[in-house]
Parts: sequence; structure tokens; C-alpha cells
Amino acid sequence: MKKLDYIGLKCISCGDISSQKDFHYTCELCGENLDIIYDYSAINNDWSKDELMKNVDHSIWRFLPLLPVKESPTNTSMQVGGTPLIQSDSLAKAFGIKSLWLKDDSRNPSGSLKDRATEVGIQHAKEQGQKTIVAASTGNAAASLACLSATHEMEAVIFAPSSAPAAKLTQIMQYGAKLFPVNGSYDDAFDLSTEVVKDTGWYSRSTGINPILSEGKKTVSLEIAEQLNWQSPDHVFVPVGDGCIIGGVYKGFYDLFKLGWIEKIPKIYAVQSNGSSAIVNALSTGTLSAVNASTIADSISVDLPRDGLKAIRAVTESNGTGIKVSDIEILNAQHTLAKTTGVFAEPAAATGFAGLEKSSIKGLISSNESAVVLVTGTGLKDIHSAQQLVQIPDAINPNIDSFKKNWRKIGG
Ligand SMILES: Cc1ncc(COP(=O)(O)O)c(C=O)c1O
Ligand SMILES: [Zn+2]
Repeated sequence: MKKLDYIGLKCISCGDISSQKDFHYTCELCGENLDIIYDYSAINNDWSKDELMKNVDHSIWRFLPLLPVKESPTNTSMQVGGTPLIQSDSLAKAFGIKSLWLKDDSRNPSGSLKDRATEVGIQHAKEQGQKTIVAASTGNAAASLACLSATHEMEAVIFAPSSAPAAKLTQIMQYGAKLFPVNGSYDDAFDLSTEVVKDTGWYSRSTGINPILSEGKKTVSLEIAEQLNWQSPDHVFVPVGDGCIIGGVYKGFYDLFKLGWIEKIPKIYAVQSNGSSAIVNALSTGTLSAVNASTIADSISVDLPRDGLKAIRAVTESNGTGIKVSDIEILNAQHTLAKTTGVFAEPAAATGFAGLEKSSIKGLISSNESAVVLVTGTGLKDIHSAQQLVQIPDAINPNIDSFKKNWRKIGG
């Protein structure tokens, strides 16, 4: 199959296409974020569901005709994407809904959904002749860039808040990236990374300004649709920080709808912590303004979301809604997920599930409807938060009496 290039860039605010000739990060006219646009009828002429389903590559590269790069990387041995869609009948029953699936993106190479964006971003950077990639990140995007840069022999330069969980910072160092922990918030790290990109001309993998990244993230929706045999779920729950993941989730379903491969775009829910809720606030007030973010879900702790417009569009165009949850609801959701399904999510990654719990209480989902919850990253990266609700028991002596005494203590 011949690979068609994408046909252009379109500003999501002023709608301009004509000024956006060569690749650049933001609108030449108004500075807002851009969408990648495709010629859907040309893609349909060259590609079909049947052809896709015969492809034995289960990574995101099976969707190459819908990705904004010329070719797949030469080395695809580190599979990004192709993550399981796990059905939970017991949770569906508990919430009184027809079906419930968890899209477990903690199974990506570096442990988070961010690998989808990084993998496409690195290939795009290479096609632009770049060797060095810069990212500002709350931790996961940086760990992802460090991991996949090691695979694809690129240099990664990373700015992350020095308060990011130690596991994420350690992971970045293990992969051999150049890490600059920043004394300040994620927003400070983001601003610094933007200045560094301007100064050096290196490629930017910072979420929220590079339209290639939402194209990588959208592969999660392409997979969900394929895994459900091209039947869209009724509702999709997404944890939101900058808004790039949810923007990508919408774009994936939008592309498939435009291709005529699915009959509807599901309702998309933006779930945020009470302590970091700029996008949910904007959905009710109509204005996107910065908050003073503070939440245990460090990956979604963002003052001013950089992909706010795409996030708002995802919710409004899909007839979804914004949901706020408390930190304790997030921690409870994390524990419920782990003990009922075996999926261990970090707090941010369990936030979508907390949003589903709240929505089912509010009656937003009918008993004959289905929901998919995105689980965006593994709990192993932030053990400190995971220990808030569970305690490691005291040690027992290595004899049967000691075991029996302690077994009775825990009500066994
Ligand atoms: C695990 C996890 N979930 C959700 C998000 C939110 O994604 P976005 O900032 O694109 O809204 C992030 C971002 O860092 C993340 O790491
Ligand atoms: Zn514009």
C-alpha cells in the first residue's frame, strides 16, 4: 500500500489552512494549536478494514495510513500500542451498566499511554532531519521520550518538576536521557522547554503545542474501535491534565467516523481532580483560566492546560461532559481497580475510572449502555501515593504459630 502524506494543518481556533504550509507547531496567524488534516476518501481508496485486520503488526504502526509520517520506523521491536481492552462484568454489574472495558495503556514499553505520542513524534523528528528532542513533562512523557529515544537512537533532553515521583526521574536517568529537574511547577518546566526549543532549534515533544502528538495518542481510539469490532462504545472516560490525550481520543474516533468505519463518536468525558480542574471549569464557565493546581494525581496537576481548546472541543463535539473528582475518590478508584481487575494504575491513570463511578451515581449512563475507561499509566511509578490506602503488614516470625496468630488477626 502506498503511504499518502497528510494533506495539511488547520488551526483549531481561526480555522486557517492556507498559511500553514510547511510543518510548524502552532498557527502562523493566531498562535493557537493545529490539527492534522487528511484526505479521507483517498485513504479509503487505498486501505480498508479488511486489509488492516490482516496486518500481523499489532503496534500503532498498523494504522500508518492515518498517521502524519512517511513511513514506520525501521525498528519496531519495542511494541507501542496493541494494549488489551479488558472487560469487567463485575464492575459493569456494580455500576448497573451493560458493559465496561478498561483500555490498559500501562502495558506500553515505558508504562504509559504517552508512548503512543512519543513513537510518532520520534519518527516525525527523524523525517525532519532532527537528532535531539526536548520535552517538558510531569514525568510520564519524559520517561516515555527517554525510553523510546534509547530504542530509536535519538538524544532526549528533559525538563520535569523536581517534585515528580522519584521512580519516574530514576526511569529517565536509567534510559540515559539528559534530565534537568526544575525548581518549580510543570508549567515552569514547560515554559523553559519552549525557550530552549526556540534557542536551539531542537524538536519539541512537549504536549500541547505539537500537533503530531495528538495523532499518536489517537491510536488508542483506533484500537478501541477495532477491538470492539467497529462498534463504538457509548461513553469513554479520560483523565485530563493538559488535554492532549483527550484531544487525541476525540481525533481517533473523528477520523474513523469520517472514513465511515464507525457509526458514531462516543460521548467523551474529561475527568479532573478538584484540585486541578481548569478544563472542567471552562466547560461550565466558557472561559479557560489558570488554576493553582494541587492534587495527588501528579501527572494531571496542571495550572494552565496547553491543549485546552482541543480538550473542550472533544467534550462538546461528542456531547460528553466534564467531571470533577476528589483526591480521595481517585485513591479509592485506584484500589478498586487493582483489587477487582488486577490493573494497577497510578492515581492520574485511575482518575477516569473515578469519573465513571461518579457518572454512574449521577445517572449519566443508562443500564443498556457501554463504557470504556482509559487507564493511562502504571501504579508502580508512584508507590508513595499507592501506599496511602494500603499498609504493608508487620513481619511475622517464620513459624506456623506466628502465621496462625496473624491469620486470625486479619480475620482469616
Ligand atoms: C498517566 C497519565 N494520565 C493522564 C495524563 C493527562 O494527559 P494530558 O496532559 O494529555 O491531558 C497524563 C499526562 O501526563 C498522564 O501521565
Ligand atoms: Zn489560527
